Amino acid sequence: MTDILQWDESLALGVAEIDDDHRKLIGLLNELAVNISEHSARDALEQVLANLINYTAWHFRHEERLMQTYRFPGYLAHKREHAALIQEVTAFQNKFMAGEQDMTMDVVNLLKEWVLHHVMQTDRTMAEFLELHM
Ligand SMILES: [Fe+2]
Ligand SMILES: [Fe+2]
Repeated sequence: MTDILQWDESLALGVAEIDDDHRKLIGLLNELAVNISEHSARDALEQVLANLINYTAWHFRHEERLMQTYRFPGYLAHKREHAALIQEVTAFQNKFMAGEQDMTMDVVNLLKEWVLHHVMQTDRTMAEFLELHM
């Protein structure tokens, strides 16, 4: 199957270390989509989901460190968006682990829409600031 989201220059924000993270994040999202479409075993899905969530949390802390270091004025609002997503995907993960919810492409599509929206707007505003102040 083709990737559900492909990296291209329209996603590049001009801060290399952030762009690298986003490329990796998209790779993990595609890996989850592939595992769902191939009806992978439950423990494989659990593992890929955990990898995706852990990497996302790491990436958010990475951005938050940069924002704090360079005193980005929109830090708190940006951090709140990160926290909301982590809370949402962790809630889904708990339900999935408890067998209360299935892993479907709907989940991946929700994440994809969130990532696109956040990267293109919230992260872009941050990156424009960082490019001038780093
Ligand atoms: Fe962000
Ligand atoms: Fe980001």
